[in-house]
Order: sequence, then structure tokens, then C-alpha cells
Amino acid sequence: NKDIKKNGPIILIGLMGAGKTTIGKKLAQYLSIPFIDSDHEIEKTAGCTITDIFEQYGEAEFRRVEHEVIRRLIKQSSVVIATGGGAFMHAKTRQLLKEQATTIWLHCNVDTLLERISHHTHRPLLNSSNKREILSDLITTRYPVYAEADYIIPCHDNKIETTLTQILSILE
Ligand code: S3P
Repeated sequence: NKDIKKNGPIILIGLMGAGKTTIGKKLAQYLSIPFIDSDHEIEKTAGCTITDIFEQYGEAEFRRVEHEVIRRLIKQSSVVIATGGGAFMHAKTRQLLKEQATTIWLHCNVDTLLERISHHTHRPLLNSSNKREILSDLITTRYPVYAEADYIIPCHDNKIETTLTQILSILE
């Protein structure tokens, strides 16, 4: 079944701080195909920031827009797409991605995630001081679902280059 999707988009999933955008950009560059960040596309479509959408319309509306944007984006075949950490948790979005894309989960432990997100402030789900606790809770609820991805790349404490090599080896 993985072969059928060979020419479909490559989707990176994982929690905030897993490196989806950083690794996605490098992967796309290496494969000479475009890179798209779904969060960025949502902001372009909505005409405001993700924080604004959460604050003004709530998370449910954000997920609805996210689904529509991803549905549109995955119509392209050769493209790497970094999805927001909650996208794969939305049943309809997950179903779409599992059917039409090659999904790759960047599996990080909480320490690695914390290291990478500590200097960012634009994530509405992490806007409190107990980031470790929030991330640990998200790991508990989300990792069993992320495990449904086609491929799992363990990238705890790994260098970006190591992760990239691992991804390229599974795509060959
Ligand atoms: C979210 C992750 C964010 C963004 C939104 C919600 C989540 O994307 O979509 O803040 O539910 O995990 P990143 O994973 O790119 O930070």
C-alpha cells in the first residue's frame, strides 16, 4: 500500500518542536521539490495569525480551516508538507493523509522538544510556563495516534543531518 502512494506528497507529523519545518525544508531542497508549511498556509488563507484564530474563533474552527487547507495542499504530488502538531489528531485529516500521502512521524522525547521550542512564543497551546507538563500530556494522548504514520523516525537528540539521512533511506 505504501507503493501506491509513492508519487503522493510527503507529510511530516510530530509535536511542536519536533523539527518538522526545519527538516521538511532541507528534505525538499535535497529532493528538489517544493516545501510547504501548513501553518503558514493557514495564516495566508485566514489572513491572520494562528494565535489570532485560536483567540478569536477557538480551536475547533482552527481545526476546520486546517483540514480544508491540508485537503487542498495534498492535491499536489511532489511536495514536502510540514503539518501542525494537531493535524494528524483530527480524524478526518488523519484519514485523508493516510490514504493520500506518505506520512513520516518525527518521534522526539520531551527534552528534545523543550530544547527546540523554548525560544518560541507563537504557539497558543504552549503559552504557559509549565511547557514540560503540557508536552508530556500531549505525548500521552498523541503518540499512540502518531504511531499510525507510515514511517517512524526516532530523532531524540539527533542532529538534523542524521534525521535527514534516515528519512532519505526510507524514501529510496
Ligand atoms: C498545534 C501545533 C502548531 C499549530 C497550532 C496547534 C498543535 O503547529 O498548528 O499552534 O495542536 O500541536 P507546530 O506543530 O508546527 O508548532
